[in-house]
Amino acid sequence: MEAVKIAVAGKGGVGKTFIASTLSRLLASDGYNVLAVDADPNFNLAYSLGVPSDVADGIVPLTENEALIKEKTGVSSEEAYAPVFNMAPTVNDIVDRFGVNAPGGVKLLVMGTVRGGDTGCMCGANALLRVLVQHLLIQRGDVLVMDMVAGLEHLGRGTARRMDAMLVVVEPRMKSMDTMRRILRLAEEIEIKEVLAVGNKVGKETERRFIEENMEAMGVPLVAYVPYDEAVGEADMKGIPSLDYDHDAPAVRAVAELKDYLVARYKP
Ligand SMILES: Nc1ncnc2c1ncn2[C@@H]1O[C@H](COP(=O)(O)OP(=O)(O)O)[C@@H](O)[C@H]1O
Ligand SMILES: [Mg+2]
Repeated sequence: MEAVKIAVAGKGGVGKTFIASTLSRLLASDGYNVLAVDADPNFNLAYSLGVPSDVADGIVPLTENEALIKEKTGVSSEEAYAPVFNMAPTVNDIVDRFGVNAPGGVKLLVMGTVRGGDTGCMCGANALLRVLVQHLLIQRGDVLVMDMVAGLEHLGRGTARRMDAMLVVVEPRMKSMDTMRRILRLAEEIEIKEVLAVGNKVGKETERRFIEENMEAMGVPLVAYVPYDEAVGEADMKGIPSLDYDHDAPAVRAVAELKDYLVARYKP
């Protein structure tokens, strides 16, 4: 479990950020060095981790940091990247320079995401991202929890293969099942080792069964059920992490069970 690398994916609004942030905090309180990476264009992992808003408001995602992109790649964020000029920018200073200390010992890196739609573009921002993700997955020794919308399709097979698991958050809705199907195809393409489903916002028994049957039909292991829990919304309105608002809230306890599962699963 020393350096397990986990991505949290799924449709917008299913609870990726809630689960990624709670998981990060819980892993850190177990003593792991946790690097939480926000790769969502609507970055808000900082707030969910409990980073004070005056700090969170000032965070610039790395892919929006023009000076950094220029420094590392020699070109601007939009400018076409000519690999011949700087094929392998050094990125091992980035976590130290731009990592934000979140409560509970979690380190947060607001990375930003790939530009240029489905295909990406060979611009400075994407070049930096590609090398950085490789570095985070391969060289860094910490537990990585990455909050992301899409997959790792732009980063190439060699990189995605280093991800230990992709947790796909699903809610009991048909659209969420469609997203899972799409992510599964993608995961196969880029050779993600393992896709695991996490049911979230599960209320009635019929909802639990809906997720269970769909995951079974798709052959995806369903590793946690997180109940629909008003405490999550209440914490959000108060602007504090769910686990600081109520450590014993049912949804938080369910994420703690997910954490225990992952620790046991990825023990060396
Ligand atoms: N288990 C849950 N019970 C109740 N509300 C939840 C739960 N999980 C997430 N939410 C709420 O759903 C909304 C979307 O969650 P969020 O984590 O931001 O989703 P995503 O990152 O996938 O877009 C938030 O308002 C959050 O408070
Ligand atoms: Mg989110």
